[in-house]
Amino acid sequence: MGNKTLLFGLSCILLAYYTYIPIPENVEEPWKVRLIDILTKITTLTATVFEYTGLMKFEDLFFIITKTQYIEPISDENLTVIDTEFNNIPVRLYLPKRKSERQRPAVIYIHGGAFVTGSFKMRPYDFVNRMTASRLDAVVVAPDYRLAPQDLFPAAHEDCISVVKFFLQDKVLEKYRVDPAHIFISGDSSGGALTGSVTQLLQDDPEYRNKIKAQVMIYPGLQAIDIGMPSYRECENGPFLSRKLAIRLSILYFTDDKEVVNAILRNEHMPEGSRDLFKFVNWSDFLPEKYKRNHVYREPVVGKLNVFFTAFLDRRMSPLLANDTQLQNLPLTYVITCEHDILRDDGLIYVTRLRNAGVPVTHDHIENAIHGAISFATAPMYLHSGLRIIDKYISWLQKNL
Ligand SMILES: *[C@@H]1O[C@H](CO)[C@@H](O)[C@H](O)[C@H]1NC(C)=O
Ligand SMILES: *[C@@H]1O[C@H](CO)[C@@H](O)[C@H](O)[C@H]1NC(C)=O
Ligand SMILES: *[C@@H]1O[C@H](CO)[C@@H](O)[C@H](O)[C@H]1NC(C)=O
Repeated sequence: MGNKTLLFGLSCILLAYYTYIPIPENVEEPWKVRLIDILTKITTLTATVFEYTGLMKFEDLFFIITKTQYIEPISDENLTVIDTEFNNIPVRLYLPKRKSERQRPAVIYIHGGAFVTGSFKMRPYDFVNRMTASRLDAVVVAPDYRLAPQDLFPAAHEDCISVVKFFLQDKVLEKYRVDPAHIFISGDSSGGALTGSVTQLLQDDPEYRNKIKAQVMIYPGLQAIDIGMPSYRECENGPFLSRKLAIRLSILYFTDDKEVVNAILRNEHMPEGSRDLFKFVNWSDFLPEKYKRNHVYREPVVGKLNVFFTAFLDRRMSPLLANDTQLQNLPLTYVITCEHDILRDDGLIYVTRLRNAGVPVTHDHIENAIHGAISFATAPMYLHSGLRIIDKYISWLQKNL
């Protein structure tokens, strides 16, 4: 045994030590979740080293990895699948082939990826959208909005709005034989945030009010104000999405200033004068008792950061910042939250706030699932909880068509 072997052995032990976290007991398929978690941590470590040595930027490695999952638009016996553009924004369309007398429902699906990665081209999203179109005999529209850090806030939001407005034109709906009374918007993770903000903004616009029948948010992130909620504490190190990784990636939607990341991790990023917004995200008020456990409410600290990011105060970034009047006219909403997810409380609080405002909400909480589950529902992981969430999602749409 040479020194190299010894060094290699030691590195493995160190890496295992660095990446090890206990996987929660009730997680479904714990060995798959452990593998996902370890691979994510190794990727994070590698991305950090690459950035440090100047090889590439931190986020580039994540982008490269998601790119390996891209697939071409493939039509089959039931669906015509094409890549095209709406208002110069790339979209993938799933158009049912079956002859039908009636007009079809439509679903606009906004993918996740922390605003820096992800695409409708990724296998898991293609799988979800294909299945939705096929099972519901629906038209599915999946936009590829601009990503950070090339395009900063609110580019992603604006692209999604632009695609929806293009699609909602009478002549476009007619072209695809879509029933204007049955149009849905859905999204997961950061795509859930975009779903929330797009639906709110359209509802405020007299020209588009009541044009969306329902919105679906799958483990959405809905605020950037309080990073100290119970779920952010309990799932700080994952599995899969750690607090630090979520912040390091999604912050690139506003800035590449590392100081801001550190301020957020200390929950000290909100500017002077923003304290009146805390009431909209106060988990002590809005979280059902069972999720509060023994956590003690601590207010985020204001005025520590010199730079001022208006995006933190903007409901195009944080749909939870809408007041009750702005929430009360929102359409029927379906929220899926997962127990083992830093973003769990964002979703739970939105459910409470929407219900308080009188919006009809269906909520499913998946006790044994992790954040991002549907992104692991296809090869090679075939994560069961991801498949179950997809099934719940499509079944809910089917019931509410
Ligand atoms: C097409 O639809 C039929 C009937 O719903 C189904 O049995 C078949 O598996 C579908 N084909 C594909 C490729 O999904
Ligand atoms: C948050 O809620 C708790 C409990 O209702 C309350 O004591 C506290 O003042 C609230 N804080 C803010 C900033 O809204
Ligand atoms: C909610 O916000 C809107 C827009 O800023 C404002 O016009 C309205 O007065 C607010 N409503 C309440 C109840 O604060």
